[in-house]
Amino acid sequence: MIRGMPTFHAFAPGRVELLGNHTDYNSGVVLSAAIQMGIRAEGSPRGDSTITLSSEGIEGTAAADLAAGLKPRGTWDDYPLGVVEMLRRAGAPVGGFDARFTADLPLGAGLSSSAALEVATAVLTTRMFPCDVSPLDLAKICRRAENEFVGVSCGLLDQVSSIFGRRDHVVFLDCRAESVVQVPFPSALGLLIVHSGVKHALTGGEYNERRDQCFEAARRMGVLALRDVTSDQLAAADLPPLVKHRAAHITGENERVFEALDALRAGDGDRFGKLMTASHRSSMENFANSTPELDALVEIAIRQPGCHGARLTGGGFGGAIVALVDVEASGRIAEAVVAEYLTGTGHRATAYPCLVGDGALAAA
Ligand code: GLA
Repeated sequence: MIRGMPTFHAFAPGRVELLGNHTDYNSGVVLSAAIQMGIRAEGSPRGDSTITLSSEGIEGTAAADLAAGLKPRGTWDDYPLGVVEMLRRAGAPVGGFDARFTADLPLGAGLSSSAALEVATAVLTTRMFPCDVSPLDLAKICRRAENEFVGVSCGLLDQVSSIFGRRDHVVFLDCRAESVVQVPFPSALGLLIVHSGVKHALTGGEYNERRDQCFEAARRMGVLALRDVTSDQLAAADLPPLVKHRAAHITGENERVFEALDALRAGDGDRFGKLMTASHRSSMENFANSTPELDALVEIAIRQPGCHGARLTGGGFGGAIVALVDVEASGRIAEAVVAEYLTGTGHRATAYPCLVGDGALAAA
């Protein structure tokens, strides 16, 4: 950091998707939560056009020069540099700075470490170089960085959750209305995230393939997006079987999200949990974005007393599950799941008992 320059801070958490799998890019609805693990950023403006980035728990150091233009390099710094580039394109007066990131969030676990890195950068940068950007626009700028700079076609879920999460609340995102509501979540309930030990990589082609299949279903049904179709309408439609299965996941997920909102209003954790387990079944049967390891974790978790339901979280194809558990039973369930999974599959899982935490806005 340059002597005499003020130091700014930001924190952006990882997120866990609770229901609404792959609905975000189908103009659908999602329920998610910020967790307490995330990425901290500390930085100072430099007064020139150089950007230096260093990290602990991510991947080292990087430097770039704004005057020479920012270009993706296929390394971790594409995320922060992509955010800087998109902020500048949106008119933000971003100059050179030094930034340091510290992560206590497992990377590649489906907990959106990439969105946390983007949001931490965006919040830090707009604190160092103040500009008038709404929190939702900041989320969109971060998504744009990931879509156009990093080259991953994700929806808005991860960035919104990391920004708008709030302790003891879940985030309800309506991707068509582009509205975000924080809904109270019973404090006796906790989230147990269990990483399967098998990495997930969204840069693999499966995510984009699922996306295309969903768009194809919408096109064949003559609607703008699968948000416009109910499960009953889909069942009656004449579509190729594979495309119909993919679409059934999306229509079912949208419906489960609305049911889950009712369950939350009634304080009914058990019903919420059952919807999560139904979501996982649909991932297995319709969307084929689960893996034998994620299936094993879900199956073991839901057998444990004090667990209300479980499902894969995020893109799928590896990564982690999330289980809805009684907070007081969380540690015991974590131990049992890890032990039974090792015996059953030979893989070493890592369990993270979590409480719902604050997003970047609330964490200030
Ligand atoms: C990944 C993407 C999100 C969303 C989920 C699936 O996490 O980054 O935008 O599509 O998969 O719901």
